[in-house]
Amino acid sequence: MKQSGNPRLKGQTAIITGAGSGIGKAIAIQMAGEGANVVVNYVSDADEAQKVVDNIKDSGGNAMKFRADVSNEDEVQKMFRDTIETFGTIHILVNNAGIENEAAVDEMSLDQWQKVIDVNLTGTFLCSREAIKEFKRRGIDENISRAAGKIICISSVHDQIPWAGNANYAASKGGIMLLMKSMAIEVASSKIRINSISPGATKTPINKGSWDELEQKMPYGRMAEPEDIAEAAVWLASDNSDYVTGTTLYVDGGMTLYPAMAFGN
Ligand code: BGC
Repeated sequence: MKQSGNPRLKGQTAIITGAGSGIGKAIAIQMAGEGANVVVNYVSDADEAQKVVDNIKDSGGNAMKFRADVSNEDEVQKMFRDTIETFGTIHILVNNAGIENEAAVDEMSLDQWQKVIDVNLTGTFLCSREAIKEFKRRGIDENISRAAGKIICISSVHDQIPWAGNANYAASKGGIMLLMKSMAIEVASSKIRINSISPGATKTPINKGSWDELEQKMPYGRMAEPEDIAEAAVWLASDNSDYVTGTTLYVDGGMTLYPAMAFGN
């Protein structure tokens, strides 16, 4: 972790779901470097999450790990209760936890469909609901942030690019788009900002088997590093983006421009 000379999230507390690896890990480390207390949520790999916490603490940051399945209502509520007990309140939620479960649609089991929807979409709802309750309860503290709270949903280019073989995943990301926008309009007057980041192909464990192939295909000539996405997340959490709500930032190296490439551009 690199500590910023001018920390943009000083005095704020952030819960980042699925922060043991990949994009969530990079966001946890960068937010801690900007002065935030960070809750590293994980579901199965405690060692991995502990390494993220150690990395942050070794460089003078503040972090704790917390096991919770984001699709389980009781576990999510407990994570928010314990975080508020430890740090006093919460200012930032990053809905990052996500899974894939590839199958042809005519061979997809209900369980394969349901698990992906539960983690990616229902998990985003359950965590956002708890965060919004706390943001509304506390209101704005001008010394901390111009907003009462910020939520960032880590979606995907597959909220607009269909994905054969991953209909469950694409449906969950498309769902996140209108969940995010509907929540954003509902709470805008409470000065709560809710946005999405839609990464393209990013080097994380989720797609490790296809890195070589993906690297060749990307319009910008490389896949994203998790840190590319984390930069955008810090900006969306900071007051630098105070007038930004209900929108999706595509951090995708031009991946959503693919159709143009197919026609020879
Ligand atoms: C998926 C990755 C995939 C990328 C681009 C992401 O949402 O999780 O597996 O490489 O989209 O298709």
